[in-house]
Amino acid sequence: MKVLLVGNGGREHAMAVALCKSPQKVQFYAFAGARNPGIARLARENGGELAVGDIHNPSAVANWAKSKGIEYAVIGPDAVLAAGVVDALETAGVKCASPLKEAARLEWDKTFARNLMRKYSVRGIPEFAVFEDAAGAARFIDELGKPVAIKPAGLTGGKGVKVVGAQLKDNNEAKKYCGELIKAAHGGLSAVVVEERLEGEEFTLQAFSDGKSLAGMPAVQDHKRAFEGDLGPNTGGMGSYSDANGLLPFMTQADYDSGLAVMRQTIDAFNKETGLLFKGVLYGQFMLTKEGPMVIEFNARFGDPEAMNVLTLLESDFAEIVMKTVDGTLSQGDAIFEKSATVCKYLVPKGYPDSPAKDEPVIMDELEIEGAGAHLYYAAVNESDDGAIYTTSSRTAGIVGVSDTLEEAEKIAEYACRFVSGEVFHRKDIGTKALIQKRIEHMKKIRG
Ligand code: GLY
Repeated sequence: MKVLLVGNGGREHAMAVALCKSPQKVQFYAFAGARNPGIARLARENGGELAVGDIHNPSAVANWAKSKGIEYAVIGPDAVLAAGVVDALETAGVKCASPLKEAARLEWDKTFARNLMRKYSVRGIPEFAVFEDAAGAARFIDELGKPVAIKPAGLTGGKGVKVVGAQLKDNNEAKKYCGELIKAAHGGLSAVVVEERLEGEEFTLQAFSDGKSLAGMPAVQDHKRAFEGDLGPNTGGMGSYSDANGLLPFMTQADYDSGLAVMRQTIDAFNKETGLLFKGVLYGQFMLTKEGPMVIEFNARFGDPEAMNVLTLLESDFAEIVMKTVDGTLSQGDAIFEKSATVCKYLVPKGYPDSPAKDEPVIMDELEIEGAGAHLYYAAVNESDDGAIYTTSSRTAGIVGVSDTLEEAEKIAEYACRFVSGEVFHRKDIGTKALIQKRIEHMKKIRG
C-alpha cells in the first residue's frame, strides 16, 4: 500500500517510523516543508520518495500524491488540516486518516468547539463566553470576577493562550490582551474565548477516531514553558512523559475514563451538528481539577511531542489503524501499547522560542543515541545535499527514553541528549523524580 505523510517535524518522524514498522508492505511517501533526514531516509528505504514543497498548498500536495498513485494519507500539523489539504486529497481519490477541514474546526476555531460542547451538554467545560469586541470581553471579565484564561479563536502554534497568574498579571492585562487578539485575528478569526481559569494539573489524552469509535492511547503530560522549573515563555512543548500503566502519577483510572468519555461525547456531538464523521486523531488537552478532568481545548491531530511518547510504544500496526480509520471499523483492540514508561526531551535552538538560533549546524550521533537505548526523532531541521544538518526556527530533535519506570526512562533520555551537539538546549528537569513529585503534591493539594 502506498501511504503519504504530510509534515516534517518530530511528530511526523514518529508517525513515519510507526508506518514503516508495519508488517504490511508500506511504500512510504512524504510531502514536507523541509528535508527531515529521518523521514527522507524512511522514504528512501521503503520504496517511496520525499518531496519538499509548500505543505499548506492543497493542490500542490494533492497533485503530487495523485502523480505518485498514493492510496492513503495521514497529516501531522494543524495548519495543514486548517488549509484544507485533506479535502483536496480526498477529492483526488486519496483516502485520509485525518480530518477534513470542517472536522478539524474542533481545533482551528475554539469558538466552534466551545459552543458545540455547550449546545450538546458535553461534560467538563468551564464558564466561558465568546467575543468579537474588546468592550464586551472586558464587561464579561468584570462580571465573572475571577481570574481568567484568554484564548484566541484561531491557530497560533500553541503560543496564543494566556492565563492570569502566569503570562498575564491580572484581569486588567487580560482585557488588554483580548483587544490585541481581536485585532490580530489569528487564523483569520477576529474573536476570543474568555474563560474562568482552571486550577489543577494538565494532561493530554489522544485517541484514534473513525468517527464512531475511539481507541484511547496512554495519557501524556507535556511541558509548555521554555525553561526548567516551568519558567519562561510558552513553547510548542519542551518534552513529555507517559507512565507504564497508561495513566500519569497524579491521575486515576476514573480520571482517564472520564476524559475519554468527554471525547466520545464530543465526536458524537460533532456528528449530530454537522452530519460529518471526525476521522483521525482527536487530542484532548485537559486540566485535572478537583471536580475531575475539564477540557482546555481539542486538537485534531497527534500532539507534538506527545506523538513521540505514544507511537514509540504502539505495538499494533499503524498502517492497519489508518485503513480502519478510513473504513470506519476501528475498535479499542486495534490500538495496543507496550506497557512501559517514556520520557521525551526536546532539544531546541538556543534562544527558542523568541529568537531561535537558525541555520546553525547540529550533529546528532545516532549510533551513540541508539546505544544508550534511546530513540531519536529529527524535528525542525534541514538536511543539506552533503548530509549536514541545520537548525530552523523551531524544535530540533526529540529524544525518547523507554523503560519499565519513569525514573529509568528519564535517565536514558537525559544521557542520550549529550550526543546532540550544536547551538541547542533542553530542559533537564522533564521526567525527573523531583518534578513529578511536585505534580503529585500539587494534585493532592487541589483534591484537598
Ligand atoms: N503539545 C502540544 C500540541 O501539540 O499542541
